Amino acid sequence: MAAAASAVATAAAAAAGKNESGPLGVPDRTASAFRAGAVAFSAHDLRGEFGLDYCHNEVAMAINVRPAVTRMTPYSPGKPVEEVRRELGLERVVKLASNENPLGPSPKAIEAVERAAETMHLYPDASAHDLNAALGYHLRLAPERIVIGNGSDELIHLLGLVLLENESDELVMGDPSFVRYEASAQLANARLVKVPLDEDFRHDLPAMAKAVTERTRLVYIANPNNPTGTIVRRDEFERFLGDLPTDVLVVLDEAYYEYAAGADGYPSSLDYVHANRNVFGMRTFSKAYGLAGIRVGYGFGPPEVVDAIHRAREPFNVNSLAQAAAIAALGDREHLARTVATNRAGLERLGLLMRSLGASVVESYGNFAFVDLGRPAEPVFEALLRKGVIVRAGRHIGHPDCLRVTVGTDEELDFFEEAIREALAPSVFV
Ligand SMILES: Cc1ncc(COP(=O)(O)O)c(C=O)c1O
Repeated sequence: MAAAASAVATAAAAAAGKNESGPLGVPDRTASAFRAGAVAFSAHDLRGEFGLDYCHNEVAMAINVRPAVTRMTPYSPGKPVEEVRRELGLERVVKLASNENPLGPSPKAIEAVERAAETMHLYPDASAHDLNAALGYHLRLAPERIVIGNGSDELIHLLGLVLLENESDELVMGDPSFVRYEASAQLANARLVKVPLDEDFRHDLPAMAKAVTERTRLVYIANPNNPTGTIVRRDEFERFLGDLPTDVLVVLDEAYYEYAAGADGYPSSLDYVHANRNVFGMRTFSKAYGLAGIRVGYGFGPPEVVDAIHRAREPFNVNSLAQAAAIAALGDREHLARTVATNRAGLERLGLLMRSLGASVVESYGNFAFVDLGRPAEPVFEALLRKGVIVRAGRHIGHPDCLRVTVGTDEELDFFEEAIREALAPSVFV
């Protein structure tokens, strides 16, 4: 029995005699377990340990969900560390699956969150004034050109809401690229146009330009691209932008900007926003700034787009701890520099290792490597999992021979190296 589940069982047993009643009229062992301090359990634990079945709705209903929504595939995140540890009974699990910062957050962000926790009984500043001002200074951009989201995921969602109306609107994106663009088009019942990456796993901008029609409202370019790590270069991007109608918004999703900044020919969305072009830049605190769990991303672009997002967003979309953490993280240049340097060394090591094992590795400008094993990657993914290493398999995105591996610390890469060497041993393929 997993430790968390047994803690729940003990706490629930302690509470059993009290015969408390919950909102559904059944003994509320859940609430009692919480009060007894056992908070680390899942729906799985509840059903398994107590036969509780809150999660099943057995009342017949006839609620009509929009077909566009029923057609959507729920996001499938990388497997959580705890789940792998519990299911496989492993002591050590290393997650190299979600492109998080292996160094963790800036200590200054942790302090800021501790301070902000004192006032978490108050609603956050709905305008995120201080963070907006800090970003304005950082980007040399008027605060009216900036909007902050509950992660950049929320901004992708909101851009779809404010720019796509129905099937007569189109969203153009690369394939494979970040899956949330697709979800935002599906939610609006808009037409999704996916343009395959070129043979070097880079956005094929000439093909994307051809895919744009008078119905295109939005074009997404993840730069660097997730999952491949490739970038579009300034000259090709400017050619692409120059040929595009000005009523099409080009989103340069720069979630991995800090890792790519300074690379030869790498364009910054900010230059085009400063020049009042039809470009929306999007960045996040989830990657190089190490704040993925607290959810802050930001976008900047044409004032009418920023204004539209402000109208559509929830008033308190960025919580007070997140606002405080982001301001502190933005000010910690040293932590950022260490993050970028650690990543550079780790990416190089990962590339050398995988090439020495016969894989081809796409040149990455992010904090992850896309590797083509030249044979089905799923058994390797599974073998890595059994050894406690979580990566991303390419099967779901049409690249069954590929894996995406996030750059870890040296120690994590040691663990990965041992696991991948064993996983690629010939016996796996017999
Ligand atoms: C290209 C890209 N854009 C956006 C996001 C979303 O980041 P967040 O919502 O954590 O800011 C991610 C996360 O993996 C990403 O890879």
